[in-house]
Amino acid sequence: MPFALITGGSKGIGQCIATELAARKYNLLLVARDASLLSAHASYVSEKYGIEAHYLALDLGQAGATQKLMDWIHSNNYNVGLLVNNAGYGLSGPFTKYNAEAHIEMMRVNMEVPVALTSALLPMLTKNAPSYILNIASSAAYQAVPGLSAYAASKAFILNFSRGLRHELKNTGVYVTAVSPGSTDTNFANRADVGPKALKTAEKVNMTPEAVAKIAVTALFNKKPEVITGFINKLGAFLVWLLPKKLAESTAASLYGL
Ligand SMILES: NC(=O)c1ccc[n+]([C@@H]2O[C@H](COP(=O)([O-])OP(=O)(O)OC[C@H]3O[C@@H](n4cnc5c(N)ncnc54)[C@H](OP(=O)(O)O)[C@@H]3O)[C@@H](O)[C@H]2O)c1
Repeated sequence: MPFALITGGSKGIGQCIATELAARKYNLLLVARDASLLSAHASYVSEKYGIEAHYLALDLGQAGATQKLMDWIHSNNYNVGLLVNNAGYGLSGPFTKYNAEAHIEMMRVNMEVPVALTSALLPMLTKNAPSYILNIASSAAYQAVPGLSAYAASKAFILNFSRGLRHELKNTGVYVTAVSPGSTDTNFANRADVGPKALKTAEKVNMTPEAVAKIAVTALFNKKPEVITGFINKLGAFLVWLLPKKLAESTAASLYGL
C-alpha cells in the first residue's frame, strides 16, 4: 500500500483523517510542528491498524519547508499515493491586529505549501494512479469574512485551486477533492484567537473532527470534486450565494465584533 502524506496530522481534523486512512490500511506520513503529538499518533495508528506510520516535525510556515519535506520523502524512498493538504490556521480580528509577516506566514501554510507539495508530488501521484489529493478548504471559502479576511481569502484560493486542478488532471487518474468544514471542535478557534461572540455561535453548530474526517475520506474515495460538511454548513453556503454579499459580510463582521 502506498503512503498517505497528511500535513497537520498531529491533531484535530488531520489526526482524524490519518486514523480513517490507517483503518483503510494506508501507510502514513504525518507532518506538523509538535513532535510529541506526531509520535503519539503514529504509534497509536501503527499498533491499532498494523500499518507503517512515520512522522516529520516541521514548521510549514518557514521558507524552504516544502523542500525539507520532499528531501525527507526522497531520502527514505517513501512512495506517496495520497496527499492531504490539511495543515492550516486562521488569524481572527481586525486585519491590523497582525503584522504583514504574520499574514504572509499564514498564507504560506494555507496556500503556498499545498501548491508546492502538489507540484512536487504530482509525478509520483501520477505514477501511482489511481491516486488522490484532498484539500481542506472551509465554509469561509464561500464569502468574504471581515474579521478573518486573509484566512477566508486563503480558503477561497484553495477551493478554486482544487476545482481547477481536478479538471486539468481528469485523464491522469489523480483525483482532487476539496472539503469545506464549518465550525469544528478542534484547536482552530484557540489558535486563531477567536473572540467570545464568534466562539459562542461556533459552539452551537460545532461538528466533531471525527465526523468531518469521515465525510472527507468518504468524499475522497467517491471522487467528489467538492463537499461542504454538515447540513447547517451547506445551508449557510446556499444562503450566502442567495443573499446580497453586503448582508452576508455584515453578519460575519458582527460575529467578529467589527
Ligand atoms: N476547526 C474549524 O472550525 C475549521 C473550519 C474550517 C476549516 N478548517 C481547516 O481545517 C484544517 C485543520 O484544522 P483543525 O481545525 O484541525 O485545527 P487544529 O486542531 O489547530 O489542527 C491544525 C493542524 O495543522 C498543523 N499546523 C498548523 N500550523 C502548522 C505549521 N506552521 N506547520 C506545520 N503544521 C502546522 C497543526 O499541528 P502543529 O500545531 O503541531 O503544527 C495541526 O496538526 C485547517 O486547514 C483549517 O483551516 C478548520
